[in-house]
Amino acid sequence: MKGIILAGGRGTRLHPITLAVSKQLLPVNDKPLIYYPLSALMLSGIRDILIISTPVDLPQIHRLLGDGRQLGLSLSYAEQPEPRGLAEAFLIGADHTGGDPVALVLGDNIFHGHRFDDVLQENARDVEGCVLFGYPVTDPERYGVGETDREGRLVSIEEKPARPRSNRAIVGLYFYDNEVLDIAKNLRPSARGELEISDVNRVYLERGKARLVDLGRGCAWLDAGTPASLMQAGQYVSALEARQGVRIACVEEVALRMGFIDAEACHRLGERLASSDYGRYVRAVAEEFR
Ligand code: G1P
Repeated sequence: MKGIILAGGRGTRLHPITLAVSKQLLPVNDKPLIYYPLSALMLSGIRDILIISTPVDLPQIHRLLGDGRQLGLSLSYAEQPEPRGLAEAFLIGADHTGGDPVALVLGDNIFHGHRFDDVLQENARDVEGCVLFGYPVTDPERYGVGETDREGRLVSIEEKPARPRSNRAIVGLYFYDNEVLDIAKNLRPSARGELEISDVNRVYLERGKARLVDLGRGCAWLDAGTPASLMQAGQYVSALEARQGVRIACVEEVALRMGFIDAEACHRLGERLASSDYGRYVRAVAEEFR
């Protein structure tokens, strides 16, 4: 399965912070925001990943992550000059995806939870149709919303409805079979002129091929699109990391535990960052693993 991280947009809800810096490079506690969605793909077992961003932000993201080889990944980059909707990712990423299934993750989505990696790996296997993830929130009108019947079958998907039919937001991580390329190609822009991801998902729903997996309350799903949510995300990560002494979305550790790199390579990555606590953590993880 291929991966796409969509890290475009102007981050206008974070102005003036994002006037000169990409949202996905802002810190969430001790690491850049993009590490979180990147680690979600890695934990799904995905190593071949396309990062889509604006022409201005792409060089900076490339400076951070390079070709990905240091993490046992293959990273490539593509521009989205204008924010024309999330589903444009499949048009931009058509060559990258080829004939494979594909996972799309939004560059500002943060996931954390007990055995979340198992949930990801189970659902990334043999994807037929699409797999969406639902999460209970108090403000569903801000998101794509999924409604299910008594048997837990998905019956409707609405994008930012004024009157949501449920409190289940559809999070910014999606697994699709290869049909998604055709579906995206034939999509019409919505009233706000964008290729909406919810419209893609609705095509799958109409074909009886959309599945909603509940992440439930034991998981954390945060976005970092506003100053308040960015701060909350940082506080959440900071509280857990300080308490447990483990780091969330430490991509070097994820690469090691997934078997993408060995302990020696992980140790070298830690050495390069050794004047920070983060770097010392990476080194310690590698030493423990040896
Ligand atoms: C997008 C999607 C929405 C989804 C959300 C998750 O909204 O359109 O369906 O629930 O991401 O973060 P946006 O944040 O781009 O407004």
